[in-house]
Amino acid sequence: MVSTSLPGGTWTLGDLPVTRFGYGAMQLAGPWVMGPPADRGGALAVLRAAVELGITHIDTSEAYGPHVTNQLIREALHPYPDSLNIVTKVGANRDQQGGWPPARDPESLRRSVHENLETLGLDVLDLVNLRLGDAAGAQPGSVAEAFETLVGLQQQGLIRHLGVSNATPEQVAEAQAIAPIVCVQNMYNLAHRQDDELIDALAEQGIAYVPFFPLGGFSPLQSSVLSTVAARLEAAPMSVALAWLLRRSPNILLIPGTSSTTHLRENIAGAALPLSDDDLAELDKIGR
Ligand SMILES: NC(=O)c1ccc[n+]([C@@H]2O[C@H](COP(=O)([O-])OP(=O)(O)OC[C@H]3O[C@@H](n4cnc5c(N)ncnc54)[C@H](OP(=O)(O)O)[C@@H]3O)[C@@H](O)[C@H]2O)c1
Repeated sequence: MVSTSLPGGTWTLGDLPVTRFGYGAMQLAGPWVMGPPADRGGALAVLRAAVELGITHIDTSEAYGPHVTNQLIREALHPYPDSLNIVTKVGANRDQQGGWPPARDPESLRRSVHENLETLGLDVLDLVNLRLGDAAGAQPGSVAEAFETLVGLQQQGLIRHLGVSNATPEQVAEAQAIAPIVCVQNMYNLAHRQDDELIDALAEQGIAYVPFFPLGGFSPLQSSVLSTVAARLEAAPMSVALAWLLRRSPNILLIPGTSSTTHLRENIAGAALPLSDDDLAELDKIGR
């Protein structure tokens, strides 16, 4: 068991203790997640600050940059503290236009797992999410061949735990029928509540739900209700959005992204914002 002063406390991903307040590294790459960051020193400083502030869960992917965020994580933090868990994902490549073409055939998945091991400087990946769907979101279709490929790599000892991302509830169930998963990473925030039922079902099973774009991603969350509640609490809307997620369900883990140490600190402080039942009821209306 780990103790933390970070908001939300801790969660156990499989057998990995993590702080519920984590960090998403995607925004450390260049514009639209392509190429190197404009401020490499600043990017390294954000990663080091995250760990110094007690965060033990960093989310990344070989596709970010590509290679860029994994290389930054290694440069900033290797050799990694025992307490740090790095979660990566496979299943998409990058093309010249910055698109995210699927790469879920067995050969691409094997290659991607080995690339993640190499760029992160690890012998075993803590947790690998199979990224499904496309840039428009989750799409129906069988996950069996791709997920079985990752299970094979897990059985070889290259992966500790598995999860799925950008997945429909049916795909989550299909993966679970093949092998245990410890998390689902889908798009979800105050304004995008399509996974409400899935979150509750996963909570009952002790499986984490990790919302990506918790602050709206490339288009910051905007809502007049959110602005009103934030003004009443004399807080930033982003703080309210993070605090709401932590209150929404105990199995929700935060991985807000930022390329700024100042924003990282603001987000940690903001996620601790107390929300009353009236605040929650008002916020609950936004995405319903
Ligand atoms: N599984 C998937 O398919 C998938 C897809 C997308 C993302 N992800 C993961 O989810 C993580 C989170 O998503 P995200 O980073 O794209 O979106 P996000 O966390 O919703 O928002 C990040 C954006 O918010 C800004 N921001 C953060 N804190 C702020 C603050 N206090 N004040 C003002 N602006 C602030 C950041 O800009 P600054 O840099 O200026 O702070 C950045 O532009 C990613 O890092 C990635 O690991 C997964």
